Amino acid sequence: KQILAAELPDTELIVVSNREPYVHEHGPGGVELKVPASGLVSALEPITRTCAGTWIAHGGGSADRETADANDHVMVPPDAPAYTLRRVWLSEEEYKGYYLGFANEGLWPLCHIAFERPIFRAADWECYQAVNRKFADAVVQEAKTKRPIVLVQDYHFALLPRLVREQLPEAIIITFWHIPWPNSEVFSVCPWREQILDGMLGSSILGFHIQLHCNNFIESVDRFLESRVDREGAAISYGGRTTLVHSYPISIEWPEQTTPRRRTSAWARRRVLERFNLRPDVKLAVGVERLDYTKGILDRFHAMDEFFQQHSDWIGRLVFLQIAAPSRSSLPAYQALYQECQTLVEEINARYGSEGYQPIVLIPEHHDQHELSDLYRAADLCVVSSLHDGMNLVAKEFVAARDDEAGVLVLSAFAGASRELLEAIIVNPFDASGMGEAFYQALTMPIEEQRMRMRRLREVVRSNNVYRWAGSMLMDAARLRQREQFRELG
Ligand code: F6P
Repeated sequence: KQILAAELPDTELIVVSNREPYVHEHGPGGVELKVPASGLVSALEPITRTCAGTWIAHGGGSADRETADANDHVMVPPDAPAYTLRRVWLSEEEYKGYYLGFANEGLWPLCHIAFERPIFRAADWECYQAVNRKFADAVVQEAKTKRPIVLVQDYHFALLPRLVREQLPEAIIITFWHIPWPNSEVFSVCPWREQILDGMLGSSILGFHIQLHCNNFIESVDRFLESRVDREGAAISYGGRTTLVHSYPISIEWPEQTTPRRRTSAWARRRVLERFNLRPDVKLAVGVERLDYTKGILDRFHAMDEFFQQHSDWIGRLVFLQIAAPSRSSLPAYQALYQECQTLVEEINARYGSEGYQPIVLIPEHHDQHELSDLYRAADLCVVSSLHDGMNLVAKEFVAARDDEAGVLVLSAFAGASRELLEAIIVNPFDASGMGEAFYQALTMPIEEQRMRMRRLREVVRSNNVYRWAGSMLMDAARLRQREQFRELG
């Protein structure tokens, strides 16, 4: 907020994402308000709440239309309105082609190199283009000035920066790509690779989580577009404009004032053990994600199997609680994953379980932030075993929740977070026996060592919080605007 006021005075802020920060749904007790399970939402919401402005997103809740006004606006958060949520309505055909199809069956597996073959259909691409145009029109309608800052979020809107640029040439458009960017060889299989790159280069600044993804993007542009690439200056000149390509590691809001005091780790542990009917002496491992094949959920269960084979004295003493929020569940790949998870859990539970003891508890339900915070605080270890992940905010949320400085993070080397959270136990999720040994190391780690590691991890997350993430992008935007103003002055 201070950066906006001081460095970019009189600049309005517009955020664009597919997922909306607040969803209104019809529930048994009337209209209910939900916060979706989305890293993007947890990161962007505190920023937009602080800076105000307009957030444009797909209105997908069953009660979204009736809670919005005639301009499709609703002020949020409902208890302390701070910014305008502008909802964009999509037809079923648009939702299927743009969101389920091109974004989630095409770009999602492509960018994650997730060994799930990307599916590219011409009809989905048509929808993707049409929905990007629809959102670009919404940005132009909502803009009150000629020079807003538009924060474009994620792979749903690769074409939006160019479309907005055509109508608001002086806007500062910052596009943040929340998922990885693959190397140019992998990217080359996308039939519309040039159009995607061209669309993204309508941005003034293009952000990725880590430098590797910036390098991969720059390499893709260099290979497929007539452009000038300045690797040292991290800039691409294309079609008479320059785009800065930088890494901005996303983070979370540090929870200092938001965690109620009574929720100590001991309290949380008692609560979780009671809720899941677990014996008081078991050690707890937790995993928290959307049910997605990029998250390595099956792989951590295989690692549990290896762990029990190597360390049979732990059978009966360790429970893995896996929260798997349903996600994109109308897609075949997600349905298949759910089936596979259930089958594997049944197998492992049959192999190592006994009367009153199930080694893996799979909970395919969405949980709110308070419930998750209790789980993090109750856990002896938290496992993040993504096969490939832009950043992964669960790793950071776990660290932020542990104000008792205990607990161990087991973290995939292929999550962007592993570049910052060096005191975690870093694992290769493709190596089940290696990950099983990491569980053993975590479970037998002396408390002094846990504290030493956790203290350092907490320093990193506290200082590299989401305000720093947004602040660095806005500072770069301010520098860019100053440069443009100097140029205008001649
Ligand atoms: O990782 C990209 C991302 O947009 C995250 O920010 C978010 O957690 C996830 O995908 C949510 O996906 P969806 O909005 O499709 O449920």
